[in-house]
Amino acid sequence: MSDLGPKILAEIADWPCRLEASCRETRFDASLVRVLAKCDSTQDVARMAGRGAVVTAGRQSAGRGRLGRIWIDDEGAGIAISLAVSMQDPATLSLASGLAVLEVIRAAIPPDVRPSLGMKFPNDVVEVASGAKIAGILVEATDGIAVIGIGVNVHRRTWPPGIHAMAIEELAPGVTTRRIDLLEALPARISEALDWEPAEIAARFSAEHAPTGCRVEVESGDRRVVGTLESLAPLEHLGIVDTEGIRHQMPVESSRILSWQPSGG
Ligand code: BTN
Repeated sequence: MSDLGPKILAEIADWPCRLEASCRETRFDASLVRVLAKCDSTQDVARMAGRGAVVTAGRQSAGRGRLGRIWIDDEGAGIAISLAVSMQDPATLSLASGLAVLEVIRAAIPPDVRPSLGMKFPNDVVEVASGAKIAGILVEATDGIAVIGIGVNVHRRTWPPGIHAMAIEELAPGVTTRRIDLLEALPARISEALDWEPAEIAARFSAEHAPTGCRVEVESGDRRVVGTLESLAPLEHLGIVDTEGIRHQMPVESSRILSWQPSGG
């Protein structure tokens, strides 16, 4: 007997056919759609299903995050989806996917109650005012296949200590979001974003989301630099001038912005 609540089982009943339909005219393959009641990580299932796969679960018990972190959503209060595509540069895939996810989340919230949403480099979707994380993306590449994993906070209201996150329904009180509505929007949006040229992806990101001039704290492996963000080549590096005027280039693949302050002061 499954330990999943009857509510989740009823909720996911129509997910397979809706997701299969959403793969039409995209790079994804309806015959490789997998909807699981529960799994450890959708990433592993998608990698095994192969190129074109779209995998989601009512509940994901051991979600992985970027840079070795975990992704917490073992209650089934958010969405967890993995999409397998042909290998491309992981930084490009991750930036393009982040922009696509941001669009899907924006479209899910009516404009009159929608807060300002943006990207925190490289691919966290955040509420701009608080910096709270709404969604994250993980790209894992092996054997010619890249698996794009997307986690979005939808219903959750309480968070473990140290996690600065918010869910869509908390951001937009009164708005009820069905997980499948977000899920089924993703294959087409991601497919379209992966057709953009790398230069276009970088330009779209920089136009709206590069906080140059801000005071930032950036971590890359065991290196941590505090200073002013001077440049952001989103597929290559972040350029920071530290408090002593020394310039640092931090590679995008291993960097994350820990904090930023808009004024540079
Ligand atoms: C991050 O912000 O660090 C990335 C989070 C990615 C989470 C998603 S949920 C679906 C897919 N399966 C996983 O195990 N991780 C990704």
